[in-house]
Amino acid sequence: MFDEPLNIFPRRTDKAEPDAPVAPRAQDVGVPTRPRRILVANGKGGCGKTTIATNLAGSLAARGRATVLLDYDPQGSSLQWLSLRQGVPPIHGVAAHRRANMGVTRTFALRLPIGTERVVLDVPAGIHGQDLLELVREVDIIIIPVMPSVIDIHAAARFIQELLITGKARARAVRMGVVANRVHERSVGFQSLQRFLATLSIPFVTKLRDSEGYVMAAEAGLSISELPKPPRRELLLWEDLVRWVEGESPLNG
Ligand SMILES: Nc1ncnc2c1ncn2[C@@H]1O[C@H](COP(=O)(O)OP(=O)(O)O)[C@@H](O)[C@H]1O
Ligand SMILES: [Mg+2]
Repeated sequence: MFDEPLNIFPRRTDKAEPDAPVAPRAQDVGVPTRPRRILVANGKGGCGKTTIATNLAGSLAARGRATVLLDYDPQGSSLQWLSLRQGVPPIHGVAAHRRANMGVTRTFALRLPIGTERVVLDVPAGIHGQDLLELVREVDIIIIPVMPSVIDIHAAARFIQELLITGKARARAVRMGVVANRVHERSVGFQSLQRFLATLSIPFVTKLRDSEGYVMAAEAGLSISELPKPPRRELLLWEDLVRWVEGESPLNG
């Protein structure tokens, strides 16, 4: 089903990549560019991987990016979300877990739809070792969601340590960033998280609040910004993450 390229994304002519090289770009000379691949991962379950993957895919699609959501989780929550999505910019879903016997790398060899610009990968908890290494080799950006609790901070520290120890992320100049999720700003947990993040050499991109909006959006196949009445402060926090992913943020240096 996914072996042949599909042509599902409408052609557009307005593309100016903020962090693309000034020299002639591949699409200008008729060679397809490699889509930007964004992995949302952490060793721990329930920290917001699927919430961030789906909201990010929705935000990128809303910006006009031809976006693919790769769901590696056998629970298929991302694709379930996608199946509810109607009347908003389309996202192409791929059930990557069905190809698990092929290994992570071969899954990437599957053809994406023609014109794909952004690929968001939602993976299950507990990805580590060879699987993690293979994913890191294939992506451009890694977003690590962390919730402000001691248990979550320890789990994130172990996960980040594994990413750094393999050395592959640094060697390939993969951009890594932490997103704090379900934050109550004055809580003790958030202060501990801030102290932990201050010790890291990877950026703290944004902090998303604990908001009913995420639950409502999840139930409707929308990103929080696509809700009829989105929470306004949350939109600004999302803009920080999307701009970082798109290479438009001061954090991109
Ligand atoms: N910022 C948030 N505010 C409110 N609920 C959230 C938030 N982030 C995640 N959730 C909820 O927490 C649960 C777990 O989130 P999920 O994204 O599925 O985690 P993971 O994919 O890491 O297991 C879901 O029910 C989701 O709706
Ligand atoms: Mg999930």
